[in-house]
Amino acid sequence: MVDSAAKKSLVGVIGAGTMGAGIAQLAVQAGHPVAVYDAVEGAAARAVEGIGKRLDSLAAKGRITAEEAQAAKDRLGAVAALDALKDAGLVVEAVIEDLGVKQKLFAELEGVVGEDCLLATNTSSLSISAIAGALREPHRLVGMHFFNPAPLMPLVEIIDGLATDPGLSAAVADLAEAWGKTTVRCRSTPGFIVNRVARPFYAEALRAYEEQAADFATIDAVLRESGGFKMGPFELMDMIGLDVNLAVSTSVWEATGYDPRYTPAWTQKEHVAARQLGRKTGRGFYEYGEGVDKPAPRYEDDREPAQAKPALHRCEGRTATSYGDGRILMDLAIDPGGTATVALAPAADTPNVKLEAAIAHLQSRGKKVLVVEDVPGMIVTRTVARLVNEAVDALYRGDAEEEDIDTAMKLGVNYPKGPLEWGADLGFAYILQVLDNLEDIYRDGRYRASPLLRQLAHADGLMDTPLIHTIGSEFIADLEAAFDRIQDQHTEDQRKNDQHANDQHANDLRTKDQHDHDPDKDQP
Ligand SMILES: NC(=O)c1ccc[n+]([C@@H]2O[C@H](COP(=O)([O-])OP(=O)(O)OC[C@H]3O[C@@H](n4cnc5c(N)ncnc54)[C@H](O)[C@@H]3O)[C@@H](O)[C@H]2O)c1
Repeated sequence: MVDSAAKKSLVGVIGAGTMGAGIAQLAVQAGHPVAVYDAVEGAAARAVEGIGKRLDSLAAKGRITAEEAQAAKDRLGAVAALDALKDAGLVVEAVIEDLGVKQKLFAELEGVVGEDCLLATNTSSLSISAIAGALREPHRLVGMHFFNPAPLMPLVEIIDGLATDPGLSAAVADLAEAWGKTTVRCRSTPGFIVNRVARPFYAEALRAYEEQAADFATIDAVLRESGGFKMGPFELMDMIGLDVNLAVSTSVWEATGYDPRYTPAWTQKEHVAARQLGRKTGRGFYEYGEGVDKPAPRYEDDREPAQAKPALHRCEGRTATSYGDGRILMDLAIDPGGTATVALAPAADTPNVKLEAAIAHLQSRGKKVLVVEDVPGMIVTRTVARLVNEAVDALYRGDAEEEDIDTAMKLGVNYPKGPLEWGADLGFAYILQVLDNLEDIYRDGRYRASPLLRQLAHADGLMDTPLIHTIGSEFIADLEAAFDRIQDQHTEDQRKNDQHANDQHANDLRTKDQHDHDPDKDQP
């Protein structure tokens, strides 16, 4: 099979929509002859024409030569019947996301193509095992999940159904790598890696919004500028299409037996019902169009520089108010020292003067400050804790290898760090603490920690258990190192906090002393 690919065998693409056209362009640019088929008359020809224009445009921009563009166009054609794919070395299906349609198609295709032809589906949410169930030889079907736009996005998830022959999925992975993609391997589970692990990125932002933590633009800014994500969840959902995003959430939710971790958000459903689907309809969470300005995040206005430097506490999943000591929480930042924007949540009993001083101090250090309402887990903290938990749970269930999970999230959705790496950096004990605090508040199962997370958090004492040994020594070594780092950090934090408390105490004494001697002390 790999040989036939090396000889640049015919690639058949079924379904000439967004993904089919992208995959066909990729294959033809990789040197294969490509035949595109679509059930709707004229659709395949239109896709071929569109690909031709994109190739010309790449040539005009100097990315490929005019000869390469012409040769690729000569290798590409639309076909009117499945029979035309009988000599294909690989067929990639990219028709509508409907199990019955895909099953019928593959059952028919099996009778057309040769024994050596690789069969792949680009489904983003259906079970590979279920689609393969319709084949006489279900071991032939492999999931080949491209991301949109397929010619540009670097990642392909290669998915094994229950019956998939691992040799065939390895051959499909080799082919995708030869086309310049990075592949990750996973089992056929709801949402595979990316679409499952990414769910909390949207869900937590939606819940924070529903709890009135902040408006869309502010939540987006906190996740971008403090969390380090390339795009905020609301602007990203607007780009993806709220309906498409909701369909993925719903399908993962249904496929997991309505697991509360994936319950779709009411706010999103309401926007979809109102046909506010994002950029494509001119309105989603934001409005688009000529002369429409995107609302700005609610940055704090500039304050006068202040002397005092109130201590900020890191968010642990509880509200600031719940501590009863007037503290101010700071949301998680991907680079706490270098972050451009700091999100703060004051408690109900935080003295205003303390909040003002905190804002002024951060601004004097060049930070932008966003003050959000005191909701449990703030914004980045709850999001990252859940992303780490999802990734750990995928590992726990053996859905994919640790390296593939992190690679998938970095390349498939541009995350600044792989969630497992992020968890190790922050400390799994801290992630567990955040989740347990959140679960204690909400009690709806949404924040329940993966059994593996619980064990990783207590890893020091559990290193010898068989379960831990099954996940790979490199990971454990990283984990031990991470725990050491966290402990060092914790000690350092403790030392700084004590130092702050002492400084603060000394300041308070000085202020009291001045106040006692201040002639205006009775002024409000
Ligand atoms: N759009 C994305 O971002 C994205 C990303 C990854 C995977 N996917 C998956 O790729 C597949 C296609 O998605 P899309 O966005 O390109 O859809 P699309 O609606 O743009 O295109 C689907 C095409 O399939 C054709 N079609 C329908 N039934 C057919 C049949 N029986 N035989 C042949 N052609 C048929 C339609 O006429 C249409 O041209 C879906 O399974 C989807 O879940 C989509």
